[in-house]
Amino acid sequence: MVAVDRDEAGLAALAREAGAEAAPCELSDLAAVDALPADIDILVNNAGLQHVAPIHEFDPDRFSLILRVMLEAPFRLARRALPHMYARGWGRVVNISSVHGLRASPFKSAYVSAKHGLEGMSKVIALEGAEHGVTSNCINPAYVRTPLVERQLADQARTHGIPPEAVLDKVMLEPVAVKRLVEPEEVAEFAAVLYGPASDSITGASLSMDGGWTAH
Ligand SMILES: NC(=O)c1ccc[n+]([C@@H]2O[C@H](COP(=O)([O-])OP(=O)(O)OC[C@H]3O[C@@H](n4cnc5c(N)ncnc54)[C@H](O)[C@@H]3O)[C@@H](O)[C@H]2O)c1
Repeated sequence: MVAVDRDEAGLAALAREAGAEAAPCELSDLAAVDALPADIDILVNNAGLQHVAPIHEFDPDRFSLILRVMLEAPFRLARRALPHMYARGWGRVVNISSVHGLRASPFKSAYVSAKHGLEGMSKVIALEGAEHGVTSNCINPAYVRTPLVERQLADQARTHGIPPEAVLDKVMLEPVAVKRLVEPEEVAEFAAVLYGPASDSITGASLSMDGGWTAH
């Protein structure tokens, strides 16, 4: 198992905990992405970042960065790993998308664009990979209890004009029927289903774990 992140301390902890091989990489550097190992059976595209601002104030460099890390890097990783998977006749691509791959929210133009793009790419990989035993799917969580969510509380409060302590109820949990954050472990368990024994026929799908957000 190869774990890739730019956070070297986090990778070292993961290597100790899960026995993963740590491969520190800044995923916005596409040349560095192209130097990562390509003999991967199961590719999980998970790295991501958020920026909250209205479009007329959205820093264009930030927009490019988010597209690069969350759409172009997964493309680069897939295009290099797929020949290995095809040669084996088995492979899995699991894309950690978001409810924002299926729905938009104001002030998240780059993130929503990147996730919608990832949805499209996942389906293309599914169609191309099917005859080679390769599946590709997206998981679409609502808000998950992670640092990415904690970091956006202040920005969400500012852009929505509400106090930070109101963001959870008024913004994050407002569209969901299950009124709690998703736990990271739930996403990991769901990902494991997509490369587990019952996964052969699940492909090209966008699988919601959004507490009912997209039921509206
Ligand atoms: N937290 C949520 O509410 C939520 C909801 C739906 C989907 N997601 C998705 O889940 C995935 C994981 O997000 P998270 O909530 O755990 O966020 P997080 O900020 O806790 O973790 C993101 C990880 O990506 C890494 N990363 C960011 N930019 C990178 C770069 N340029 N190069 C290398 N690594 C980089 C970070 O170092 C970090 O370890 C993301 O794709 C995110 O969009 C999160």
